[in-house]
Amino acid sequence: MSIGIVAASGIVMLALIGFEQVADASQVNSSGPAVGDRHSHGNPDQIRVTRVELDLTTDFERKELKGIATLLLRRMPGCSPGTPLDLDTRELTIERVMAGPADDAMKEVRFELGDDRRGQSRSEAEAKMDRLLGARLRVFVPEEETRVRITYRTAPTASALQWLDPPRTAGRQQPFLFTQSEAIHARSWIPLQDSPGVRITYGATIRGPKNLRAVMSADRLPGQEEPGVDRFEMPQPIPSYLIALAVGDLGFRTLGPRTGVYAEPSVVAKAASEFVDTEAMIKAVEARYGPYRWGRYDLLVLPPSFPFGGMENPKLTFATPTILAGDRSLVSLVAHELAHSWSGNLVTNATWRDFWLNEGFTVYLERRIVEDVFGPDRAAMEAVLGLRELREELAAFPPRDQVLHIDLTDRDPDDGMTRVPYEKGALFLTTLEHAFGRERFDAFLRAYFDHFAFQSITTADFERYLQDQLLKTDPAAAAKISVQAWLHEPGLPPGFPEPSSSRFAVVAAAARDWLDGKTAADRLSTQGWSTHEWLHFLQALPLELPSEKMAALDQAFSLTASGNAEISQQWLLMAIRNHYAAADSRLEEFLTSIGRRKFLMPLYGELKKTAEGTARAKAIYAKARPFYHPIAVESVDRLLGTH
Ligand code: BES
Ligand code: ZN
Repeated sequence: MSIGIVAASGIVMLALIGFEQVADASQVNSSGPAVGDRHSHGNPDQIRVTRVELDLTTDFERKELKGIATLLLRRMPGCSPGTPLDLDTRELTIERVMAGPADDAMKEVRFELGDDRRGQSRSEAEAKMDRLLGARLRVFVPEEETRVRITYRTAPTASALQWLDPPRTAGRQQPFLFTQSEAIHARSWIPLQDSPGVRITYGATIRGPKNLRAVMSADRLPGQEEPGVDRFEMPQPIPSYLIALAVGDLGFRTLGPRTGVYAEPSVVAKAASEFVDTEAMIKAVEARYGPYRWGRYDLLVLPPSFPFGGMENPKLTFATPTILAGDRSLVSLVAHELAHSWSGNLVTNATWRDFWLNEGFTVYLERRIVEDVFGPDRAAMEAVLGLRELREELAAFPPRDQVLHIDLTDRDPDDGMTRVPYEKGALFLTTLEHAFGRERFDAFLRAYFDHFAFQSITTADFERYLQDQLLKTDPAAAAKISVQAWLHEPGLPPGFPEPSSSRFAVVAAAARDWLDGKTAADRLSTQGWSTHEWLHFLQALPLELPSEKMAALDQAFSLTASGNAEISQQWLLMAIRNHYAAADSRLEEFLTSIGRRKFLMPLYGELKKTAEGTARAKAIYAKARPFYHPIAVESVDRLLGTH
């Protein structure tokens, strides 16, 4: 392919003019040799890591993982002799590096580790990038060798790891460890090329306490010869951000022939009942978009400090316990993480600029699954709620942050995790669906997943494919859509299909009747309202509500006591805004027991709006901080200006 030649000859020149310029290679096709990733020190265009073999011991006392990562390498066409291997690390202690043809024939080799801790960078800007990207590990691999063996250990502050002391777990008896590698945290527990454009297979041996179980985003290898030793193999090539590990006192319940759920023993029954529809969801996606290609699909319910709602670790979705509402009303999160088995894990964003390819496609698929399994009413309600959140953010964001193909130069890719890639991305696909018809659009998507299966692609790759396989086939339909505006410009292009929900219309009418004093709160017909309808009801109320009104609602519907995390968060936002003191202790309890960033940030943000609220936020945060995950700590620190 001509692109390959251009890229290969480009490398030599780009290497001379430095990192900044290399990033411009991001326009080059990713399935070919070159795709510049501003968020990695790796040099996969020259030497590419193709497989990682881990042998790690979990040390709960010292809060460190230690052991060996063996990397298998492929030299890319045009790689000149003497080219060293460049890897990403963050806060890793590298004990030694060896290279050789086989594990029993390794020789020590020279390496250089950049400086991500002492901050001796030349300028403040460089220091910031070092903190963001971590330290480059450069290994001088002898020309003939394709195996590198790194002996290392992690820091107790590793950004991907959360080590929970027993009191922070449901069972309170055993410690718990889990990883969160997306976006660029894998480098804090494994030295590798931490770029979503580099796909690897992996194998792992995890040695831990005998009474705990390890799980990974991989197949478990049979034969547990030694207690406390778990072995895994991931045969499908995946990007590094999908490597995941959890170790704890885990029970397991079978859900179906290829599905099941892991959770702490006291949580596993509740989780199994919440997730009964998992197999039906898999069948729904398979019927439209092709086979599930990962073998098993299991879920792991984490302790409440898990900083996200869910994470699509292949074969094993990680999920927050805050979706265990008891009525299955929050399982669209399972639909979402499952959908990533096609959009994201099978076809992957090549760089973090292309994140909308992961999340926009996934929200689109998620809504289609919800429609197939739970009906169009529920899908419509979720679309309305999603678009409302998007509009709120668009109203507050500077133009550059409203763009799908976002420029993340010098920025933390986690900053790109807004509603924009999710909801604007999904709305773009829904707009295409309406213009071309469901049948044609589904066929297009199915072919897209097949065409790019197990590849990492850029937005430009997608645009080319879209042009050739969909837009060209129907110029009249294509003329209705400005791909340029959707992908590269801020705001929402006009003419998209606005979602609407008749059930929400009924809810909004109830809210009006109550506000106008026509109907008392306890006389509203709220029987059978789902979580979504409650959320819409609360969001339909004015931002300012007098205390009596807040109290009347609380009295009628026990909102302060609600155990549904989504409803609680919405209610607590209203309570802060309206100085509703009866919810004060619930707010503190919520913020000190749940570490999901999506809930924390709006609540702390709302508190921060007044001086008194800021003081409260800081007091609560001082208690909660030791319990939060490093990723949540980073976000809240930045918001409150602490540390
Ligand atoms: N892949 C994301 C989580 C993520 C994104 C972690 C970027 C780190 C960086 C996951 O699929 C996700 O989107 N989770 C959502 C839930 C979903 C239902 C929208 C979340 O955690 O809120
Ligand atoms: Zn997602």
